[in-house]
Amino acid sequence: MAQVPVEVRGLVKRYGDLVAVDHVDLTIEEGDVYGYLGPNGAGKTTSLRMMLGLIRPTAGSVRLFGRDPQLSVKALEGVAGFVEAPRFYPYLSARRNLELVAAFDGGDAPSRIDDALATVELTGRAGDKIGGYSHGMRQRLGIAGALLRNPRLLLLDEPATGLDPAGMRDMRALIRRLADGGMTVVLSSHIMAEVEELCNKVAIVRSGRIAYEGAISELKRTAGSGYRLRTTDDDRALAVCAAQPGVEDARLAHDGIHMNAEEAVAADLSIALVESGVGIVEMVRESATLEDLFFRLTEDEQAVAV
Ligand SMILES: Nc1ncnc2c1ncn2[C@@H]1O[C@H](COP(=O)(O)OP(=O)(O)O)[C@@H](O)[C@H]1O
Ligand SMILES: [Mg+2]
Repeated sequence: MAQVPVEVRGLVKRYGDLVAVDHVDLTIEEGDVYGYLGPNGAGKTTSLRMMLGLIRPTAGSVRLFGRDPQLSVKALEGVAGFVEAPRFYPYLSARRNLELVAAFDGGDAPSRIDDALATVELTGRAGDKIGGYSHGMRQRLGIAGALLRNPRLLLLDEPATGLDPAGMRDMRALIRRLADGGMTVVLSSHIMAEVEELCNKVAIVRSGRIAYEGAISELKRTAGSGYRLRTTDDDRALAVCAAQPGVEDARLAHDGIHMNAEEAVAADLSIALVESGVGIVEMVRESATLEDLFFRLTEDEQAVAV
C-alpha cells in the first residue's frame, strides 16, 4: 500500500522548560503543497529538523513514507530539503558545489546536475563562485542541491524569507513549478499571503501548538463570507436587513452596511430592499483573507494563554 509522505503524531520537543514543539499532529498527502505557517519562534524550524531526522523528538513520532527518519537513512530516500539556509563552499562555483553534493548522494545524482541548474534558472551562473551569489540565488541553489536526490517530498524552511520582491517572486514560481510537476512540498513561512498563494493545505502554529489544520478553502469557508452594502437610504436598509431571514450581524459603518449572509440570502435581500423603495448603489462580497483568520486564530490562542 502506498504510504503517505508525512505522518507526524504527538510530536514534542523541549529545551529545558521551553516547549518548542507541543504535541503536533500532521498528515501530509501525496501532491500536497503544505504550508506550516506561524510567527517567529512558533517552532517551525524545530519541527522541520525533527521531520528531517536532524534532531531527536522529546516525544512522539515522525514517519516519512511510513519510515522513521531517526532509525534509518533509508527513510530519507525520496526526501530532500534544508532548514534555515543551505550551506555551500563560497570559494567554489555552483556547479562544483553540486558535483560535491552529487558525489556524496551517489547513484545517478551527478547526471541530474544540468537539469537541476536549469530548473532553478542558474544555468548561466553555474560557473560563478557562490561567494558572489545573492541570497535568492543561494536559496535556489539549495533547492537544486535537493533536486539531485530526485525527491518525491521536499521540505523547505522559510525558502522566501529575506529575499527581495523579485527573489520572492522567483522562489514562489519555482515552488509552483515543482508542485505542478507532482512533487509533495512542505514549506514553513510566516507570510500568510505566500501560503495562500502556494499551498492547498495549512497548519497554523503558535507557541509550538497547532491552532488550525486543514484545507485553505475550508478555512476560508468556515470564516463565512460577508457583504458590504451602500444604498440610497442606509437607515431604512438596515431595518430591512434586520428583518430579512438569514442576514446576520448587520451593522452600519462609515463605508456602508456590513453583514454576513449566504449568497441566496443576499439575492433575496436585494429584492426586499428594492420592494421597500431602497436603491442599491453598491453590494460587494468581502471574504475573510487568510491574514484575518490567522490573527483571529492566534488572538484566540493568546486569550486562552493569558
Ligand atoms: N537548540 C535550541 N536550544 C534552545 N532553544 C531552542 C533551540 N532551538 C530552538 N529553540 C527555541 O525554540 C523555539 C522555537 O524555535 P524555532 O523552531 O526556531 O522557531 P521558528 O522556526 O518558528 O522561528 C524558540 O523559542 C527558540 O528560541
Ligand atoms: Mg525558523
